[in-house]
Amino acid sequence: MSDDLKREAAATALEAVEDGMRLGLGTGSTAAWFVRLLGEKVRAGLNVVGVPTSEATRRQAEEEGIALTSLDEIDRLDLTVDGADEVGPDLALVKGGGGALLREKIVAAASDRMIVVADASKDVPVLGAFPLPIEVVRFGVKASERAIADTAAALGLSGPLAWRMAGGERFLTDEGHYILDASFGRIPDPQALADGLAAIPGVVEHGLFLGLADEALIATPEGIKRLSRTPSRA
Ligand code: A5P
Repeated sequence: MSDDLKREAAATALEAVEDGMRLGLGTGSTAAWFVRLLGEKVRAGLNVVGVPTSEATRRQAEEEGIALTSLDEIDRLDLTVDGADEVGPDLALVKGGGGALLREKIVAAASDRMIVVADASKDVPVLGAFPLPIEVVRFGVKASERAIADTAAALGLSGPLAWRMAGGERFLTDEGHYILDASFGRIPDPQALADGLAAIPGVVEHGLFLGLADEALIATPEGIKRLSRTPSRA
């Protein structure tokens, strides 16, 4: 996706922002465009407060001069705008390619509305081509990996499980956990997998976002395609 299209999706999402809103600020290159354009509006007088979904987004938002708060200070948000790695049927998402899935999910779940900004390559008929990020606590990783493989196998899913690496070490999330990237290829029943993963003690969260996104703005060379989830939370 060219930067122009990312910008276009972000600019369209910005149209949903109203003065006084409490905003969840997503992570990734498309969400970064939203933060950048929001910064321009803020410097022109728009009054909003944001909750960043990662340290990277926090740094960017601070540089943009966007007022920030946290979900330690407030308990609900009006709107979250975030990217996605895959957008499937009924706006089921795979997220976490940037490693921020835990904070992203907490922020999305605390929001009255979530708008996803993505390019057409992420609009898929079935989830799973993008490896599913699974956030795992550092204690007992071998046992957690085995439990994840067993849970997947019980659902007819298999494929390589790879610990995400960074600089020769296991990648650490902002919350100090590891990420296991699961290449299942196809996830025909995301809810069943989500339920199974949530039942594993060492799994903190996973990148399946189900029933959270209300709208997706898919940027294509022909323009913005709007997808809505039914029923919407709004
Ligand atoms: C971050 O953890 C992810 O959930 C991102 O939303 C995702 O990787 C999309 O990023 P891009 O907008 O850079 O594709």
